[in-house]
Amino acid sequence: MSPAQKIVVESEELAQRTAEWLAGALQRALSGGGRCSFALSGGKTVGPIYRTLAAMPVPWERVDFYFADDRCVPPDHLESNYFLAKETLFRPAGIKLEQVRRMEGEREDRDAAARDYEALLPPTLDVVLLGMGEDGHTASLFPGLAAVEEQQRRVLAVVGPKPPPWRLTLTLPVLNEARQVLFAVAGEGKREAVRRVFAGEDLPAGRVKNAVWILDRSAAGQ
Ligand code: 6PG
Repeated sequence: MSPAQKIVVESEELAQRTAEWLAGALQRALSGGGRCSFALSGGKTVGPIYRTLAAMPVPWERVDFYFADDRCVPPDHLESNYFLAKETLFRPAGIKLEQVRRMEGEREDRDAAARDYEALLPPTLDVVLLGMGEDGHTASLFPGLAAVEEQQRRVLAVVGPKPPPWRLTLTLPVLNEARQVLFAVAGEGKREAVRRVFAGEDLPAGRVKNAVWILDRSAAGQ
């Protein structure tokens, strides 16, 4: 696999360096005027990144927010990626919730929620932040799921091994069409998955091409 760029940082600087990269990517996306689209991930790694990003000089009023995935829980649930982003980014940065396109995974008809979200997506996302699990999943594209092979649908409801099980997720065509994609991966537990991805093994995270990877030394195996 040939990622566009791999940046290895000290663990304690991962949030700062990732937030700086994202702020730069957003400013590049906005340089032509108008608005840009930014898709967020969830998990433990991104919270400190969002808190750091919230204080950076980005014209937030010109950014439309989306999600790479979200768990099928209410928007005020502790497991909700929307809830995480609201508490660590939207509220601290004064971002109006009208700028945020939330995945409505709590709806009983998850497939309808996925199709409705497809209709909200722009043709091409400008900036996407992704994480990676120890099994090499990204968004909610877990190894072995049919959703990893999906080439037509842009949003799917899936059942994954990481609780909570039901999630809505963008599919690889959407992630691979995005203009600027960043993986932020930290911790010893990700080291083997990072090694496998960069060795060219077929894991979902490795199927996202032309991404920049910011890794801490533990995840990078250094
Ligand atoms: C999710 C995320 C998921 C996450 C990875 C890494 O909804 O869980 O979108 O793809 O980014 O699982 O999560 P950690 O940062 O908690 O290791």
